[in-house]
Amino acid sequence: MVKICCIGAGYVGGPTMAVIALKCPHVEVVVVDISVARISAWNSEQLPIYEPGLDDVVKQCRGRNLSFSTDVHKHVREADIIFVSVNTPTKTRGLGAGKAADLTYWESAARMIADVSKSDKIVVEKSTVPVKTAEAIEKILTHNSKGINYQILSNPEFLAEGTAIEDLFKPDRVLIGGRETPGGRKAVQTLKEVYANWVPEDRILTTNLWSAELSKLAANAFLAQRISSVNAISALCEATGADVSEVAYAVGKDTRIGPKFLNASVGFGGSCFQKDILNLVYICECNGLPEVANYWKQVIKINDYQKTRFVNRVVASMFNTVSGKKIAVLGFAFKKDTGDTRETPAIDVCKGLLGDKATVSIYDPQVTEDQIQRDLAMNKFDWDHPIHLQPTSPTAAVAKQVTVTWDAYEAAKGAHGVCILTEWDEFKTLDYERIYQNMQKPAFVFDGRNVVDAAKLREIGFIVYSIGKPLDAWLKDMPAVA
Ligand code: UDX
Ligand code: UDX
Ligand code: ADP
Repeated sequence: MVKICCIGAGYVGGPTMAVIALKCPHVEVVVVDISVARISAWNSEQLPIYEPGLDDVVKQCRGRNLSFSTDVHKHVREADIIFVSVNTPTKTRGLGAGKAADLTYWESAARMIADVSKSDKIVVEKSTVPVKTAEAIEKILTHNSKGINYQILSNPEFLAEGTAIEDLFKPDRVLIGGRETPGGRKAVQTLKEVYANWVPEDRILTTNLWSAELSKLAANAFLAQRISSVNAISALCEATGADVSEVAYAVGKDTRIGPKFLNASVGFGGSCFQKDILNLVYICECNGLPEVANYWKQVIKINDYQKTRFVNRVVASMFNTVSGKKIAVLGFAFKKDTGDTRETPAIDVCKGLLGDKATVSIYDPQVTEDQIQRDLAMNKFDWDHPIHLQPTSPTAAVAKQVTVTWDAYEAAKGAHGVCILTEWDEFKTLDYERIYQNMQKPAFVFDGRNVVDAAKLREIGFIVYSIGKPLDAWLKDMPAVA
């Protein structure tokens, strides 16, 4: 029986291993993590992440051929294949700060593998890492090898949060990069056989190590670029009276372009897009390619512009000030069907509104108050090191301006404006008549995801802003400058 161990029980490691266990009953899968709290949650009824369909898969396999453990050394030692799926945040200090990936967790995992292993291993990188990380890891492992043979593979994960299980069941492709040596080819084949249990052979692509690593960064950069492209067009639509949905539909009908990933929004978020592009930019700069670096930087700049533009639109439409006004925020997660708030545009939008002294009342069906307060209170780089709120600290001052509720109507009660920042389905069917009755007048809706029926809302009496759509007379009279 092949034994797989995955280091890192996060958004990627957890769902991926659960699906491998489900589809390969003859493979034993153990997910390990240094976080005791995370592992306990994976072993409980309340999984640490919200992901449609995940509970079902975990329930079917847990205790059969899937387990979660903090005994990292034991399971690494016993495994034939080790997936490394630890976090690789952007570096906050030192060389490459703000751009390069912080490989501290990766390196410590590699050193640990070298320390505890007693038999040959296939080590698979699953986290998104800079190109040539595999080579660095290989060096750490082989320099400490004690005669053990290590094969390094790159097997980037392409799942999107909110649809992780679907994506894992029916991936567009599985990518496996390995060394072009007999040992490398054999390792690629071993991993290929695992996926071949449910993925059609023609969807399993094999490449060299560097191509696999770069493909992940490039795919995320292309996806993010589409959103920045349509968001850039959305600004022009507002200025000219075109409708971004009509434009995107017409553009997407060209089969060379395709219809997906063309929804204009308040901006993209999530743990990958910005991080991976920054990474790509850093690699380009390090390789003497400043023109290429600048090209990709622009994708992030447009994303920042879109978030600023949204805040400015809110403030401008309320006579250039939101000071002391209550603004309801519906949706805080970076997209629907997840409770994840990493890099969510809601953080920047709320901070912008708070900066203009608004009070903000937030509702999201999956994000806890504690998470929201932490996201809004601190420098994002302190995320991993939560601090306690002190009554006199600036953190507490922000906390006073922010309330979090478990009810959309409560959030909107007495508000001057409602900002929709995540495209949760339930926001389409709220009773907007009721919301309108309980708001200050004029009552505004700023739809950052184009989910509401603006015409219906206007009939009720709302002034409505939808990204990239023809503007209401009120908004035209109060132009926002980004
Ligand atoms: C992304 C990639 O899709 C996935 O392949 C990779 O493995 C990890 O990064 P994820 O970040 O989970 O996945 O979600 P995704 O669906 O890509 O959305 C990212 C952001 O873009 C979200 O904030 C989403 O709301 C936004 N988005 C997406 C748009 O604004 N418009 C769109 O048309 C699509
Ligand atoms: C283009 C549009 O495709 C067409 O829809 C529009 O009506 C007019 O402009 P055209 O310029 O005739 O058509 O040819 P196209 O096939 O788009 O190629 C344009 C250039 O891009 C060519 O120089 C082509 O060699 C180049 N190209 C195209 C690439 O370098 N790589 C590609 O993958 C595709
Ligand atoms: P991703 O979205 O890439 O899955 P997460 O932050 O959700 O990232 O998950 C990464 C996980 O890796 C975290 O639960 C973290 O505790 C774990 N981790 C980091 N370093 C190590 C390590 N050396 N050994 C075991 N687990 C680790």
